[in-house]
Amino acid sequence: MKMLNELLGTRYPIIQGGMANIATGPFAAACSEAGALGLIGVGGMTPAMLEEEIAKCRSLTDKPFGVNIMLMNPAADDFADIVIREGVKVVTTGAGNPAKYMDKWKSAGIKVIPVVAAPSMARYMERNGADAVIAEGCESGGHIGEMTTMTLLPQSVDEVSIPVVAAGGIADRRQVKAAIALGACGIQVGTCLLASEECPIHENYKKAVIKAKGSDSIVTGRIGGAPVRILKNKMSREYLRREKEGADMMELEKYTLGSLRRAVFDGDVDTGSLMAGQTCGQIKEIRPVKAIFEELMEGIA
Ligand SMILES: Cc1cc2nc3c(=O)[nH]c(=O)nc-3n(C[C@H](O)[C@H](O)[C@H](O)COP(=O)(O)O)c2cc1C
Repeated sequence: MKMLNELLGTRYPIIQGGMANIATGPFAAACSEAGALGLIGVGGMTPAMLEEEIAKCRSLTDKPFGVNIMLMNPAADDFADIVIREGVKVVTTGAGNPAKYMDKWKSAGIKVIPVVAAPSMARYMERNGADAVIAEGCESGGHIGEMTTMTLLPQSVDEVSIPVVAAGGIADRRQVKAAIALGACGIQVGTCLLASEECPIHENYKKAVIKAKGSDSIVTGRIGGAPVRILKNKMSREYLRREKEGADMMELEKYTLGSLRRAVFDGDVDTGSLMAGQTCGQIKEIRPVKAIFEELMEGIA
């Protein structure tokens, strides 16, 4: 089996997950410099911002990096063209189906790696020309599906012949080994990078991730069909209360509007949305991304 680092030209078989409002050009560059594939996440960006972040990333590293396109972003069509124009080499996609962009991305020589939450989606993406898929289990932070990494990963591996990257619930080398044993060619991580020196989130957010125990995350939005894993706080409790009472989607949307930005930029740990996965219970300190990647890969790659 070809490992992810061979596919991507990176030192380690690791992708830094594209995190909305967090995965800037400088953060992606830091992760690429430290041996992973850094990703710029378009979540929360305008097309002009993406162009700027790509330029910043290029000024800081000559190592491979990519772009994560959240397909529910209204400017997805523009982002799809920018990655071609800018000569980006790797695109990952989240929250939707990238099939309509696949032909033009492939003609531009872009490696396309969609995030999938079900084995059937992995197969569908393979049929549409994906170079690999990221099977993301519901232990992960942010938007999630129903299956756990433990069940999704081997079933996705059985379903396709392209490489499968494991995501969700990975924050130390035991979990990396488990992912490889289940057939993964590499990993994508998000939560464990929140507590890195280079991660551009507010200190309060980092401290909340370090303080959280493994059972301190919760899923909002299940009723409305857009589940998101976040840390328990005043905001998540109030959201769930309103959801149970039958608040309509618009009201909930208004309530959460800007809540991730409040957490990321203002450090509001009460009414901000602290997206994080179940590995929060394993994260004990703020470290450079280089140390995090080295520890993940010790004795493996
Ligand atoms: C704060 C946060 C924001 C995220 N935003 C996005 C996003 O915009 N697009 C995406 O594809 N995945 C997003 N994710 C998922 C990550 O890219 C990654 O797949 C996930 O964090 C891996 O699981 P882990 O959190 O257990 O490490 C986000 C995750 C976190 C923690």
